[in-house]
Amino acid sequence: MVGTFRPRRLASAALLGALALGLAACGGEYPNSTFNHTTDFNADIDALWDKLLFWGTIVFIGVEAALVYTIFRFRQRAGAGKPKQVHGNTALEITWTAIPAVILIFIAIPTVRTIFKTQAKAAPDALQVEVIGHQWWWEFKYPQLGITTANELYLPNGRTVSFQLKTIDVLHSFWIPQLGGKRDLISNRTNYLWFTPNADLPSSAWNGFCAEFCGPSHANMRFRVFTVTPQEFEQWAAHQKQNAIFPAAAPAPALPTGTAAAGAAPAGGTPVVLASNTGAQPAAPAPVVDAQPAVPVWTFPKEKVEGEFKHIIPTAKLPTTISFDESLLAQGDAERGRDKYSKSSCVGCHAIGGTPYNMANIGPNLTHVGSRYTIGAGLYPNDAKHLAYWIKSAGHMKPGSLMPTMGKGLTDPVRKMVINVGGLTDADIADIVAYLQALK
Ligand code: CUA
Repeated sequence: MVGTFRPRRLASAALLGALALGLAACGGEYPNSTFNHTTDFNADIDALWDKLLFWGTIVFIGVEAALVYTIFRFRQRAGAGKPKQVHGNTALEITWTAIPAVILIFIAIPTVRTIFKTQAKAAPDALQVEVIGHQWWWEFKYPQLGITTANELYLPNGRTVSFQLKTIDVLHSFWIPQLGGKRDLISNRTNYLWFTPNADLPSSAWNGFCAEFCGPSHANMRFRVFTVTPQEFEQWAAHQKQNAIFPAAAPAPALPTGTAAAGAAPAGGTPVVLASNTGAQPAAPAPVVDAQPAVPVWTFPKEKVEGEFKHIIPTAKLPTTISFDESLLAQGDAERGRDKYSKSSCVGCHAIGGTPYNMANIGPNLTHVGSRYTIGAGLYPNDAKHLAYWIKSAGHMKPGSLMPTMGKGLTDPVRKMVINVGGLTDADIADIVAYLQALK
């Protein structure tokens, strides 16, 4: 059915539509927008996008104007005869070949220039970060600093960071929409990406994603990025570099003179740096004070996360298919937890710096797990309750999770087997949670 043609009505509808679209672009917050200038990388990409949009708009207006003019000027009129039949027009054909060629040059030059700039080698003094994709989490290594962490990346503003992108298994893609990327992590090769967070950027928190389908928890392979001042980065790195600090309940031996640990003691115990236990019996690693002073914990401020950067707080719901006796969490004991952790299969996959269990890298490094904001690759907040559920059965928390179910009597949803031998009770898990939370 064709209605009567009313140009005025059409025009006002089009205007309303355009207004609605324009207004929609102004409202709401877009924490994952790519249209901002937080790094040299995204400023270059955005400048290129603006140029393409400019030329694209000119082409669009020119083509549409010619089309509309032709429709109205040469429409069929009552009583008019057959129009003059022509074939070919050399001048016209040369013109419409030449104009796109010129436009293409205007588009190609800035495009090629941006490709060469962003693909060039990073500055030699850049901060090196090795990004290793795992199903489904991110390992971050700072080879110049001797730091290994997971799912939370700290970067200093004003310094170029050069990422070496690798994967331990399938293809992944590294993407921080507000800062830069996306670039693929390709099996058996290293890919590169570099950018410089603006020197005048306030300390900020960003979401990171995997942008290449990599299996059942591709959508749950997230990470967080904190761009901080160089001084804050120094503080963070100085703390991350050292081994796990475990607040021992028992009085620790006196610190060697000259170590500046006095101001660093966390409430509730003297900080004890766990040095490598050379004893063959791993059941009771004796706390030994390392010679190095304990450096205080520095992480991106909590009040900023809960205020301006709420968008990095995970919102995933706990599964209803498993339960945990949360009343036990208050009774969790870190010392007991350390003992139970050391006897569990946890040590086969996770490393904790400064303990005898510091080799495995199948799962995320847990040296400073207590100072992270999230668990499960950015999927859940890092609090006692979520951690307890996670340990009890990661497979119920995150589809396909390669971390086995630990809860005694539960069925591992990935391996389809009931966990009995080596399984943990809720009380065991509460103790391990207390221990892991103490690893700041
Ligand atoms: Cu890793 Cu998608």
